This record gives sequence, C-alpha cells and structure tokens, in this order.
Amino acid sequence: MITMRWRKIYIIGAALFLCWNIVMYYVFINSKQTKGTLTRLSKKLSNLQDQIHQQIQENDELLEDIKRQKDIFIKKQKSLGISFDFKSKEEAEPPAVAHHSGVVIPVLVIACNRPTVRKCIDLLIKYRPSKEQFPIIVSQDCDHEETAKVIQSYGDQLTHIQQPDQSNIYLPPKEVKYQGYYRISRHYKWALGQVFNQFRYNSVIIVEDDLDVAVDFFEYFLASYSILIRDPTLYCVSAWNDNGKEKLISQQSDLLYRTDFFPGLGWMMTQNMWSELEPKWPNGFWDDWIREPEQRKGRSCIRPEISRTDTFGKVGVSKGLFFEQHLKFIRLNTDFVEFTKMDLSYLIKENYDPKFLKLVYETPSITVNQLTRENGRGLHTVRIQYSDNNSFKSIAKVLGIMVDFKAGVPRTGYLGIITFMYNNIRVYLAPAQSWTGYDPTWS
Ligand SMILES: *[C@@H]1O[C@H](CO)[C@@H](O)[C@H](O)[C@H]1NC(C)=O
Repeated sequence: MITMRWRKIYIIGAALFLCWNIVMYYVFINSKQTKGTLTRLSKKLSNLQDQIHQQIQENDELLEDIKRQKDIFIKKQKSLGISFDFKSKEEAEPPAVAHHSGVVIPVLVIACNRPTVRKCIDLLIKYRPSKEQFPIIVSQDCDHEETAKVIQSYGDQLTHIQQPDQSNIYLPPKEVKYQGYYRISRHYKWALGQVFNQFRYNSVIIVEDDLDVAVDFFEYFLASYSILIRDPTLYCVSAWNDNGKEKLISQQSDLLYRTDFFPGLGWMMTQNMWSELEPKWPNGFWDDWIREPEQRKGRSCIRPEISRTDTFGKVGVSKGLFFEQHLKFIRLNTDFVEFTKMDLSYLIKENYDPKFLKLVYETPSITVNQLTRENGRGLHTVRIQYSDNNSFKSIAKVLGIMVDFKAGVPRTGYLGIITFMYNNIRVYLAPAQSWTGYDPTWS
C-alpha cells in the first residue's frame, strides 16, 4: 500500500516537472535559429538511420557469403579425403562412449615361487591410472619365502593373499607329471573365489606373474568393460593376440576383434561368468577346459591386433618349448590408445558380424600359392579358403600362423576366420561361406 502511494506521487511529480520544462522551452528559447538547428539535427539523424540499415544489410550478405564459402571448402576437403571439424564445442554431439568413472576392476596377479613377479607388479603400478579404480591383489601359492618378501615390500600398494592349502594332490601314476597343472587350477579356483566371494568385486583382470603389461593395458580393459557387460555373447576380454608376431600384425594399434578362441594371458571376466564356472571348476588344465563348448557356449572374447601383454618367463610349468618357438616373438604394444574416448560398440555381435562377414567374403579369394608367389607383390587384401583341419594346417604352416586347434577352434578364429598380415597384405583365412560351426573333433 505504502509503496503504491509513493509510486503515484513520484509519477505525478515527474509529469509536472516535464510540463514545466516544455513551457519554459517555448517561452524562453523558441526562436528561428534553434528551429533551423533542430531540422538539421533530425535530418542527420534520419541519414544515420539509413546508413545503419544499409550496414546491417551488407553484414547479412557477407555472412551468407561466408557460409557459402564454408560449404564449398568442406566439400573440397571431403573429396580430398580430409575430414575437418567445423562444429564448435557447444554444437558438437556428445561422444557415444560409455561412462567409466565409477567402475572398479581389481587386477589379480597369480604368483607362486618366482621373485621376478616384481617385474610384473612394477609395470602394473607404473601404468595404473588409479589405485582405487584398479586395486591389485597378488595371490600367492607355494609358500615361497623369497617371493612373499618381494610381494610384501609393496606395502599398501597391493593386497597380498596366500593360498592356504599346500597339500599334495593325489593323482594316478600317469598323471603325476602334471601335478603342477593341478596345483595351478586349485590356486585359480581359490584366488577367484577370494576376489568375488570375499572381496565382492563385479569383475576381475587376471594376469600371471610372468607378464609385462603395455602402457595402455588399463585403458584397454576399462573401455572394453562396458562392452563385456553389455553383450551376453562375450565371455572375456583378452590382452593377447596368439598370432601377434611382428610379421603377422599391422601397425594399427587401436584395432580390436572378436575371437572364438580363449586367449588368456591377461584377461577379464565378470562375476556372472565366475558364478557359472565356479561350481564346476576343473581339477587341472583350466584354460583348455574353458575353451570346451560346454563352458564357452558359443561365446567370444575381444582381443587386440597388437598384444597388451608380453610374457617374459620361460621357467614355468608349461611354457618351455612354447615360449622359445612362439611366445617370445609376440610384439607388445607401445602406443597409448585412448580407448575410453572411442565408441567400441562396433564390437557388439549384432553390429560386428554382418560387417565382418561382408568384408571377408567380398574379398576375392586366391590360393596360398598365388599369395606367396613373388611375396604377394601388388596385393592388398586377400581371402584364402580352407576346407578342413588338414588344409588349414598346411596353409597356416606356409604363412607362419599358429596351426593348432582347441576344441575345434583355431587360434584367433572368429566364425572360422583367421585374420593376419602377410608381407603387409591383409589375409582372411576363411572356410566356405556356407560354414555352419566348429567341428570339436578337429585337432
Ligand atoms: C583332423 O581332424 C580329424 C578328426 O576330425 C583327425 O582325425 C585328424 O587327425 C586331424 N588332422 C590333423 C592333421 O590334425
């Protein structure tokens, strides 16, 4: 009420003041001279107004012109195969990548009696972006004093757990020489049980004590984690390419694939997968067991073109000859690829299969002799067809890829297809297009 009255008084006062001024103006100042000044002034004003209008029009035309020039420029760039982003930050679409910030993935290091586990742990600690996001659990079997000391020297950088059951495993005489494999299987079961049942994590990355990891090891697993949990046709992500020798790979470090062959050697699985495997975990040879159709159930893993792990240990249960002939030639990736900033949904089965099959079967088929003649000079991408395990093996030997099958699946195979490089030529070693599935009797 009070403010209303004050406002009224103020308005009346202002009006009175204005009237008084007008009256004064006409009484004292009105003369021919001032009239002349006024008309000149209003002329100038209208001129200025016209100029402003003209300027605005010119600006509009200029803007249109710039837009036209921009379109022409973009078209030219495109025809030259150069992409150029004109979008401002506000305009840019949000990247179609998953959010990774809340994800915690423990790294389980399987150790026994090799103090050289230090090499593995050092690299894990060096490359992990966060202690909270990637807690390291070193599970030790074998009660080896010196190795235990090495692990404990890392203090709160990791959690050291020790497998309590050191009893001998009873085996029939023919199997006694495999005691080591049975101990490993027992250790895995116990350690994974700790990770999922005791510490209650949702997923795990498993490495053995003789592995080096690549600079983008954590980045790779963090980015692929969201694909692993989204796609029920995947059961693992692996850091390993079984055909990852220098001569067999391209230099494209961001290239990833699906594979039906379980590679192991630095791999990730979810808690769901563990609850499936735990009740039937085998007494020995767990990795070959996981490759059997009863465990794999038609599912696949993700693997890189260039391995993100590298094994340095040749003193182990299994790796003597295999290390000397193959493992030590596998190339470890050295470029940091920002996988978490990339959209990896192309790896999901429904996106991947049609494109991959089209790519492979649209590639002209040649014979292995046509490829090796003159070292494949002039060729860029080729397909070579195999018909059975025998033809596969003979071609694989010539081209230098792994020749073995596990549960009927060749190493790195996907839908029966193996892809690798031969003298910088992309090769798809593929069965006939009518292929319907693996034959588990192939060895
Ligand atoms: C191919 O697989 C068959 C079983 O289907 C097996 O008997 C044969 O030994 C295998 N050949 C080779 C070279 O491994």
